[in-house]
Amino acid sequence: MRKLAAGNWKMNGLGDGLGEITALAAAFPSPNCDVLICPPATLLSRMSDAAGSAIATGAQDCHAKTSGAHTGDISAQMVRDAGGAYVIVGHSERRTDHDETDAIVRAKAEAALSTDLIAVVCVGETLTDREAGQTLDVVGTQVAGSVPDGATAANTVVAYEPVWAIGTGKVPTLEEIGEVHDDIRARLVARFGDDAKNIRLLYGGSVKASNANEIFAVSNVDGALVGGASLKASDFGGIITALEAS
Ligand code: 13P
Repeated sequence: MRKLAAGNWKMNGLGDGLGEITALAAAFPSPNCDVLICPPATLLSRMSDAAGSAIATGAQDCHAKTSGAHTGDISAQMVRDAGGAYVIVGHSERRTDHDETDAIVRAKAEAALSTDLIAVVCVGETLTDREAGQTLDVVGTQVAGSVPDGATAANTVVAYEPVWAIGTGKVPTLEEIGEVHDDIRARLVARFGDDAKNIRLLYGGSVKASNANEIFAVSNVDGALVGGASLKASDFGGIITALEAS
């Protein structure tokens, strides 16, 4: 499978940040992994133009419906129209800030799939869940509830992002990451069959160029979903290089 280095800019980036994507495109004219940046929606169209063909772009969320009276939302069709090829759904910040349930996340992912976007479905436990020994149950429930029935290796990516590792500089041990990724893989294969062996499973949460090599060596880690370290081409480039070498 082709691995995936994905950047989530979250609510960061103005027009002058487009230079980062131009620099990234210049540094990686033909990467041997897929590279994706998900900027804020305001930048998606411009970034899609600036990224060229070697780097994909996507949105950080979409509405489950195609159009209508949903002030402030954007649809999967709009993401596609703006040049996006992917959409992140169910990021923990949306689950928390906007009360998104697994059912909502699944409906968004279904909208993405029916629009020929690739859905990056995010799951992950809180520190309370982990300390209670509930990690595999919580993540397994999220995977079961959030990943749509139409998921294939071509149209779906699953990102495991422990909530307590996001933006904190804390990272699970490599054993802990491997345990969760192996469990997600087993659940997906049990549900979808052999095709799910090729659904890309990303780790996310305080990934940096300095820890990327060891994380990418963990079983069933097929790339990363990167927040802070995706904002600068120089930082993200180090992660892409580590993934290319893995
Ligand atoms: P950080 O890489 O900043 O920890 O963010 C991870 C994340 O939430 C990516 O979606």
